[in-house]
Amino acid sequence: MFRWKRNFPVDLADESSLSRREFARFLALVSAGFTAGIGYLWGRKKPFDGAPDSSGLERAVDLGPAAALHPGESKLFTFRDADDRCIVLRTQMGDLRAYRQTCTHLGCAVRYDGQRLECPCHHGFFECGQGFPVQGPPTRPLSGINLELRADGRLWAVGDLPKPGDPRRLEEPA
Ligand code: FES
Repeated sequence: MFRWKRNFPVDLADESSLSRREFARFLALVSAGFTAGIGYLWGRKKPFDGAPDSSGLERAVDLGPAAALHPGESKLFTFRDADDRCIVLRTQMGDLRAYRQTCTHLGCAVRYDGQRLECPCHHGFFECGQGFPVQGPPTRPLSGINLELRADGRLWAVGDLPKPGDPRRLEEPA
């Protein structure tokens, strides 16, 4: 008998069978942990403002009285969850618009300078009417939020706007 066989008296076949069993146990354990984790997250899931409710409809977010927003002014809000940062603004022409703050270049937060939406990271600019890029590195328009001006004068964010140029895009409230 070889010397190494005396030191390691395990058959190659036994060794592989043992490994398979251990591997199966490991897989079962990982699967159980994964299932338990998903179950826990599912149980904890809470609807956020703006997230679709169980009926599949979009939930609206109250942005306050529309009259409080004067031409050239803006206000920040969150829509679907705390990380979904958006900006509602009134243009110099008096129109109301809302966009996600996420710059379409590398994701910095845009802000309203009273004329255009500006991204401070690489000096990208977007026009306010439809969120098209007009200067700097961004090439795609900002993601628009659909606004609704209700009879009591309050402004609501009610969903995502289709992309500019999409015929489904509705006229925003003036
Ligand atoms: S991240 Fe906005 S211009 Fe680069």
